Amino acid sequence: MMKRMLSGIKPSGELTLGNYLGALRNFVNYQDEYEMVVFIANLHCITVYQDPKELRQYLKDAVALYLASGLDPQRSIIFLQSDVMEHAQLGFILACNSYLGEMNRMTQYKDKMAKGENALTVGFYTYPTLMAADILIYDPDYVPVGDDQKQHVEIARDIAERFNNRYSPTFKVPEPLIPKVGARIMSLSDPLKKMSKSDHQDKGVIYMLDEPAVIRKKVASAVTDSIGKVNFDPKEQPGIANLLQILASCKSTTVEAVLPEVGHLNYGEFKSVVSDAIIELLEPIQKRYHEIVSTDLLEKTLYEGKLKAQAIASRKLKKVQHKVGLEIFKR
Ligand code: TYM
Repeated sequence: MMKRMLSGIKPSGELTLGNYLGALRNFVNYQDEYEMVVFIANLHCITVYQDPKELRQYLKDAVALYLASGLDPQRSIIFLQSDVMEHAQLGFILACNSYLGEMNRMTQYKDKMAKGENALTVGFYTYPTLMAADILIYDPDYVPVGDDQKQHVEIARDIAERFNNRYSPTFKVPEPLIPKVGARIMSLSDPLKKMSKSDHQDKGVIYMLDEPAVIRKKVASAVTDSIGKVNFDPKEQPGIANLLQILASCKSTTVEAVLPEVGHLNYGEFKSVVSDAIIELLEPIQKRYHEIVSTDLLEKTLYEGKLKAQAIASRKLKKVQHKVGLEIFKR
């Protein structure tokens, strides 16, 4: 049997180059070897307030970008998280099998607390239990994600193991799958910070739909250093190291393989090579995006995806509800 993979993206903003290199591109590549289940984590989006009109646009763009990137609705199951209500139902059951201490240890939560954010929602706090449900309800073998989501996949594993021990074997315990290059693309304006879609208006973030001129401008103003030599030294030259990673990842190769080609360039020349590589990668996707974004392909894809996903999810949820003792009669 074909092994299954599952992943999702939370479009609480426009998708970034980081989302593409760290996640989306890999979903597309894995379609040949795996049964892919890929969804849009719209419930996760509202753990932080979203303007409804903007959110609808982000979601629509995300579906269009999934397809434009090459996700194939014939081969992969593509759907919207809130269309399959079983995720939220299982999420509650898993929240009842998780502990406050575990949630308190989550980096994302700790970071927000440390920043003194005073309006964190309960939904944000229980975010990892919903994510565990997203994953476990489909029994995937692997969960391809960027580096920052590893901790969330690990807690899903812990919850699965606990549930299996407490009741009886129910969930497959999945492995996170992190790419060797591109798993953590950093901001161009602050290379010690992850490139993140929520940093709106930040020139350190490249969006998948940025025009070539915008990409050139952002890369040209990327923070570097005064050393003046293109080396891979993340400690001393984090900006240049990040650009090298981006270049290697865009070209689907390693930093070692690109270094000989760019090691002799000055920073200006090097940046222009990096821009070229990004544009070469994104331009065809942008072209397809514009072709499909106003067609009925998006709605059709989500409708068919929902039916396929629901068929798997509802069976699993029934099983879980019976094991927990919620179902009185076997149906
Ligand atoms: P999200 O939307 O923050 O990110 C989506 C994917 O993109 C990766 N990523 C990056 N990779 C490299 N460099 C970056 N700068 C970068 N930024 C983001 C992320 O690691 C992720 O793989 N909670 C998830 C969505 C989710 C999910 C799931 C994922 C909900 N349920 C179940 C997998 C399985 C999230 O917020 O991803």
